[in-house]
Amino acid sequence: MLARDGDAGREDGLLEAQALLAWRRVQLRRGGSSADFDWLLEFAGGLGWSQLQRLRLDPGQPVALRCSLGAIAALWSQHLETATPLQYLVGIAPWRDFELAVGPGVLIPRQETELLIELVQALGLAAQAGSAPLLWADLGTGSGCLALALAQLLPTSFGLAVDASATALAQAGANLERQGLAGRVALRQGSWWQPLQPEWGQLDLVLSNPPYIPTPVWQELAPVVRDHEPPLALDGGPDGLDALRAIAAGAPQALAPGGWLLLEHHHDQSEAVQALLAEQGLEAIQPHPDLEGHGRFVSARRPALAADPPGSGPGDQLTPRPGEDHG
Ligand SMILES: C[S@@+](CC[C@H](N)C(=O)[O-])C[C@H]1O[C@@H](n2cnc3c(N)ncnc32)[C@H](O)[C@@H]1O
Repeated sequence: MLARDGDAGREDGLLEAQALLAWRRVQLRRGGSSADFDWLLEFAGGLGWSQLQRLRLDPGQPVALRCSLGAIAALWSQHLETATPLQYLVGIAPWRDFELAVGPGVLIPRQETELLIELVQALGLAAQAGSAPLLWADLGTGSGCLALALAQLLPTSFGLAVDASATALAQAGANLERQGLAGRVALRQGSWWQPLQPEWGQLDLVLSNPPYIPTPVWQELAPVVRDHEPPLALDGGPDGLDALRAIAAGAPQALAPGGWLLLEHHHDQSEAVQALLAEQGLEAIQPHPDLEGHGRFVSARRPALAADPPGSGPGDQLTPRPGEDHG
């Protein structure tokens, strides 16, 4: 649809760039950041950032938006008044080369999580999957972002996407369907490793971006996050490590021998997460930085020759696989 608001529109339904830029300045005077407003112009109005820069250089040219200025202004008002994330208002979150559908009850995928996929490539796992298909899992799939990326990156492999939230799983399913990737991923509802019990001992690659924010930190987050995004996706308990402990505990038995676990965590948890994985007998434990150089990811693998899992701790929730010698 072309913009047709009388304030900035022309008879042919197009907008004068100069009028659009003046209208944008008016909207920004109401509050909020220009980065957020330009995101809205792009994902609601269809006017990308580079196009916006071109308008500045040539303010005489006509512009077509895919919705009216009034519709964009109404979304902006709602964002300013209620702190609702723009992604929920528009229903879209760009992530890697996907435009994912998102809504309340599902975490908005963050750009740093894209690095988990880069890590899969850096560890040579995409190349390995080219010669022998992998069985992979995404624990806490949310919108399905990691599952979509893995399904695309490892086209001959099969994946399992787990979440405790039915809302998240429905969203992940819809996103997989939209991208034509649903046939390569099965969705399972439940807690971490539990719904994967039939595949314990066979998982070659497991990714997880679990809730890891310590509760006191979560309580102080900006309202746009704390009051709108699901606490189940963010709040990692008193020290932020509840989910990471549970995932580490199940890894020695759920991973295939030689299988990889790649985790995202809070910026100050690298040593704690490495220690949790070492306690479970995983090897090749390696921290990885985000783009700002903060340790935000850890990779580790189950030893290729099955090692005895520790005799106590939460890993005991898992029963041995048939035929596995635990000494
Ligand atoms: C930080 S979000 C990550 C979502 C998505 N993978 C991403 O990177 O955007 C964590 C996800 O874990 C899910 N979750 C929380 N507790 C869980 C549990 N016990 N078992 C499985 N999933 C859980 C939440 O519902 C949420 O979707």
